[in-house]
Order: sequence, then C-alpha cells, then structure tokens
Amino acid sequence: MSRRPIQPTIRTHANKAAPEEGLGSDTVREALSYWASGVAILAVSDGDEIDAITVSAFSAVSLDPPLVLVCVNEQSSILPMLLEESRFTVNVLTEDMQRTGSAVAQRLPSSLAGFRTEGDPVLEGSLVSFVCRLWEAYPGGDHRIVVGEVERVELGPDAQPLLYFRRMYRGMR
Ligand SMILES: Cc1cc2nc3c(=O)[nH]c(=O)nc-3n(C[C@H](O)[C@H](O)[C@H](O)COP(=O)(O)O)c2cc1C
Repeated sequence: MSRRPIQPTIRTHANKAAPEEGLGSDTVREALSYWASGVAILAVSDGDEIDAITVSAFSAVSLDPPLVLVCVNEQSSILPMLLEESRFTVNVLTEDMQRTGSAVAQRLPSSLAGFRTEGDPVLEGSLVSFVCRLWEAYPGGDHRIVVGEVERVELGPDAQPLLYFRRMYRGMR
C-alpha cells in the first residue's frame, strides 16, 4: 500500500527530533489535523447570559456513570463561567450548521441566537445535546479537561453530522 505524502512540517519516526529539542506546537497542530472529529458547541448560562465556544475536543469518557469530556483553552473566557455555574451543554452540530460553528468560534454577536434561554442553554436543531453537570476539571497543559456527568440527552433531527478534518468543515460524503 502506498503511503500518502507527509507534510514537510511533520517528522517521521526515522527523522525524529532529539527529545531535548521538543516538538513545536505547529507540528503537533498539523499532526492533529489528521484526526477527523465532529463539531460541537459548548454552552454555559448564568441565568442572564449565555456564553459558547465551538469545540472539536469532545469525547466519551464513561457509561456508568455517564461522563463526557471537553478540552477548553485556559485563556477562553467561557472557562470561569463554566466553573462557577458547574453546568454546561454540549451540542453536536448537523452538517448544515457550519455557519453556527464558524460564528460561535469567531464570537460574532449573532452566534447566540438559537439557544434556548430558559434553563440549560440547549442549541435548537442540534443533532444531539448533552446536558451536563460539572464532574471534575483537570489541568491539561494549556487546556482544562472538563468532565461532565450527563444528566439529560436531547435528540434532534435525523440529519448528518458536521465534521472537521485538516482544518476544514466537511460533510460525511
Ligand atoms: C472547528 C473548531 C474547533 C475548536 N475546538 C476547540 C476546542 O476543542 N477547545 C477550545 O478551547 N477551543 C476550540 N476552538 C476555539 C474556540 O471555538 C474559540 O474560537 C476560541 O475559544 C475563542 O474564544 P475566546 O475569545 O473565548 O478565547 C475551536 C474552534 C474551531 C473553529
């Protein structure tokens, strides 16, 4: 089987950097771009205001108890509110919600339309929404590993997911 060409910024094992040299974050970011993921919106409400960011670092953790995790940048303004409120939602985007993903990531004012304003900030039209209580938050370098206990799941439309691969939004086909 022929291998695809490797980007010049990625070192192969044969060409591995000496440990003391360390790995540049550009190299790691480039390598991680080969991991295909879904796209979700992490949202928090303090009862008055909703804050939200787009996330791809979302994963299942445990079924019993039901735990999921999201990795949130330590610099992200959503983090203090999330830790204060101890509740959040993770809303998985459908293929046709790419504009929502971009708008939330860019923090456009329009991006917060579409969230339920009563109770937990569920994003209407999501493929599925996980309503979580903060279980624990662990240090993870420049990100915080936020683990949530899933209290409720809301299923949305029967639609295809939005995907993210090689720094581009994509569909399943
Ligand atoms: C496709 C995509 C995936 C992202 N995934 C994450 C993520 O998993 N964790 C994170 O902290 N930020 C992630 N971001 C960045 C945030 O959505 C947001 O742009 C950033 O936190 C800026 O918000 P701030 O002003 O609060 O820093 C992602 C952005 C995009 C476009």
